[in-house]
Amino acid sequence: MPLQLFDQLPDVYDALIDWPKRLANEGPFYRRWFDRLGIHSAVDVACGTGHHAAMLHGWGLRIEGSDLSPKMIEQARAAHGEPDGLRWTVRGFDQAIEPPGSFDAAICVGNSLALAPDVEMVRRVIGEMLAAIRGGGLVVVHVLNLWRLPEGPCTWQKCRRATLPPHDVLILKGVHRADRHGFVDLVVANLADNAILHAESVPFLGLEADELEDFARQAGARQLDFFGGYRDQPYDRSRSVDLLMVARRG
Ligand SMILES: C[S@@+](CC[C@H](N)C(=O)[O-])C[C@H]1O[C@@H](n2cnc3c(N)ncnc32)[C@H](O)[C@@H]1O
Repeated sequence: MPLQLFDQLPDVYDALIDWPKRLANEGPFYRRWFDRLGIHSAVDVACGTGHHAAMLHGWGLRIEGSDLSPKMIEQARAAHGEPDGLRWTVRGFDQAIEPPGSFDAAICVGNSLALAPDVEMVRRVIGEMLAAIRGGGLVVVHVLNLWRLPEGPCTWQKCRRATLPPHDVLILKGVHRADRHGFVDLVVANLADNAILHAESVPFLGLEADELEDFARQAGARQLDFFGGYRDQPYDRSRSVDLLMVARRG
């Protein structure tokens, strides 16, 4: 149900993101952890259009990118190919990552885990990710820190003009919070006739560092670190833009 945006509009998703800039910001974080722990393979859970998976494959890792949305996976395959060591799979959070222990690392980033229908599913996905990696391996979860957003009307964050054949469009993206839920608000308008092509408010969960920690420990994580951003900023619930968990399996 929350997949409309992703399943119908993979082009819109990619048009909203400056991928070289985003990967330049996030890549060094992964590089540090992966080098430190000797990570040579990873599964990217809810990989979207596959840019992180392709980056990691470019570093020489064996990678599987998985996502519930067949359209996102189709776009990932078309953009990055499927060379040796890079595999794309349609798989939802509710399906097991097979076989257990087959990766050095599992990542779930870009607020994907917050799109789970409820925290029980979050618990399950963290358990699946930890089960998918070898002892001493690494799980990285990145979600938006909902708690820094004031409650109330949408804060518009992005306004992009793009060509999505056959249309020239304007894409507006914002975010708002209502109690313990966030919403990504999206409007796509056709510039030729001002018609709204798509309008959607995608709900996401406000997740707490403590609950992520509990879920990870229950699933066998031994050592955990939390950050408020990809430059290793300490996590501050009232200020951090991001909530990043790095969990090592015992
Ligand atoms: C905001 S995008 C993030 C994609 C990518 N990880 C990134 O950082 O750009 C969220 C992704 O989660 C996927 N997703 C949402 N619900 C899912 C579910 N139940 N199981 C697997 N993937 C899901 C969507 O299809 C979408 O590709």
